[in-house]
Amino acid sequence: MAVPKKIFLIAAARPNFMKVAPLWRAMALCPGTLQPLLIHTGQHYDHNMSDVFFEDLGLPAPHVHLGVGGGSHAQQTAGVMVKFEDLCQGERPDLVVVVGDVNATMATSITAAKLHIPVAHVEAGLRSRDMTMPEEINRLLTDAIADLLFTPSPDADRNLLAEGVAPSRIRLVGNIMIDSLVGAVQKARTLDTCARLGLETGEFGVVTLHRPANVDDPDTLARILDVLVGMRIPLVFPVHPRTRLVMQKHGLDARCGLTGSLVILADPMGYYEFMNLVVNAKLILTDSGGIQEEATWLGIPCLTLRPNTERPITITEGTNELATVGSLAAQAADILAGRWKKGRVPDLWDGATAPRIVAAIGEFLAAR
Ligand code: UD1
Repeated sequence: MAVPKKIFLIAAARPNFMKVAPLWRAMALCPGTLQPLLIHTGQHYDHNMSDVFFEDLGLPAPHVHLGVGGGSHAQQTAGVMVKFEDLCQGERPDLVVVVGDVNATMATSITAAKLHIPVAHVEAGLRSRDMTMPEEINRLLTDAIADLLFTPSPDADRNLLAEGVAPSRIRLVGNIMIDSLVGAVQKARTLDTCARLGLETGEFGVVTLHRPANVDDPDTLARILDVLVGMRIPLVFPVHPRTRLVMQKHGLDARCGLTGSLVILADPMGYYEFMNLVVNAKLILTDSGGIQEEATWLGIPCLTLRPNTERPITITEGTNELATVGSLAAQAADILAGRWKKGRVPDLWDGATAPRIVAAIGEFLAAR
């Protein structure tokens, strides 16, 4: 009998877990041919940034935890590369599958490629053209060396082709994160996160902010918070650890507690808990990549506080628009007045991306 192919699935930070889960499940259905192993690099380590997602998404504990933790970009990248190289030399996987655009996506891809282990990148081809974002550097480097490039939308294919990537490396498979969302919506609706926070269904907004450009400079963050405090709709804001650090250091929490403020600060939440908020929200204010896509799929108006997005389809087809600190209040007022596009769900965002990827991986490995 043939030995199953050993597949490393790399997970590092919060937005990775909901992308890895459907891949894990689809691969676990092929025990004779594929042996998926979850490798957690440790970039996110708090219970509510990591473990709770494993529990919510029904993932087993990671097979290997590299325990690299936080640090500067170089510390994180180098730390992952050193430990991952050791692991790859001991285990010799047949394929390394990376998702998204975090530091570990790039670090593990480079390490594997130099050991001549093939790499598959899920969510390939997205480009913001903004080289001040670490994620854009991670995306470009990963796509330059990955053997298989699984894209979520036709714009990603066009970006790769324009960079000279051979079409044989590209597979348009759809949006992997939507696989998790499709499976989560029903359960998320049964939770009582809204009620616990005293929020009425459809009568509040959800805020997430964690991009360095929005949160690292206290003056910028203070200006954003002032706009939020001025809005006349309750806003629930689960605060990312990076943002929390700056808010605490500069006493910005107090701004949200001013008389008349409808901003509710909360800790980071688990997947279902957070999705209960999103599915019941009237609007979303975010700088996250994934939430722009979730809002588009759910048809909920979304304002992305960034000058660009690597996910333009959420604007051209979905419910998303870019915003600045100066434009935020007027755009939110439009949404509250019902003046917003309805959007449509992009093709192949259908909850069946993981099986398409697993089929393509099977063909790729069989041909080697
Ligand atoms: C990282 C990703 C970003 C992704 C985001 C999602 C990169 C370059 N950035 O940014 O693309 O959108 O994750 O959350 O890979 N921290 C904790 N507890 C944790 C995790 C982080 O306290 O569980 C602290 C870290 O120690 C650090 C800060 O939060 O001080 C930022 O963490 P880091 O992983 O460096 O970057 P993110 O902003 O989370």
